[in-house]
Amino acid sequence: MHVGLFDSGVGGLTVLKELVGEFPNAKFSYLGDTARLPYGNKAPETLRKYSQENMVFLKEKKVEAIVIACHSASSVCLDMEDYQGIPIFNVIAPSCAEALEKSGSKKIGVMATKATIKSSVYPNYIKDLDNKAEVIGQECPLLVPLVEEGLIDDEMTHLALSRYLKSLESTDTILLGCTHYPILQDEIQKMAPGKSLINPASSVAEKMRTLWPKSPEGEGQIDIYLTDHAPHFIDHAQRLLGEKITELIHPHSLK
Ligand code: DGL
Repeated sequence: MHVGLFDSGVGGLTVLKELVGEFPNAKFSYLGDTARLPYGNKAPETLRKYSQENMVFLKEKKVEAIVIACHSASSVCLDMEDYQGIPIFNVIAPSCAEALEKSGSKKIGVMATKATIKSSVYPNYIKDLDNKAEVIGQECPLLVPLVEEGLIDDEMTHLALSRYLKSLESTDTILLGCTHYPILQDEIQKMAPGKSLINPASSVAEKMRTLWPKSPEGEGQIDIYLTDHAPHFIDHAQRLLGEKITELIHPHSLK
């Protein structure tokens, strides 16, 4: 079992962490497109082009499934069920039902990048499941650079979070609609006590179980490819994944 994932940077590692937990013996190839980060302020056509290039790269690595470990990219690839026969999983659809389940008031907040909020993908999916639900989206453009810089329990991050969380005060559930944000989950929870926080990564791992009901045999391996150097990447990877990284290959050009 060989799974390929991609994101702009470290965010997708939060998805990789869940997948490693679910399939500890699988092989994973992770592509962090650090040369073109951030994705969250790019146009839909640009994100679609980047996503296709990332899929070409992962196909060359002979992956058997592709996880778009990025909400911004997922939001423009929802129509893609496979890439040349390789099944594609996105991070958006699986978490909407979970958010509705957790929310008593059906007032759900979504923290995400500008690209994801602009796509309206979350209100569309959630309202499809329950048309009485109310979805409040909040763009959080400063969070990705803060996370990439490793500024987690930091006053700059707290300041940005308090600004972004204001519009979500009336909600009881907040969907972390960018794969970078679960890295800030403890900080967000401290500043929004009592609210349920949804990390879509766990629903993705459960969904992949449907493809591989039995866990594979083997040692488990994680290869990480970056399109440019990223000073804090290895710290994040080690903190999230421990000793499991076997290869860190960078900088790597996609072309
Ligand atoms: N982690 C990505 C997402 O889920 C991309 C963030 C970015 O590069 O702006 O949207």
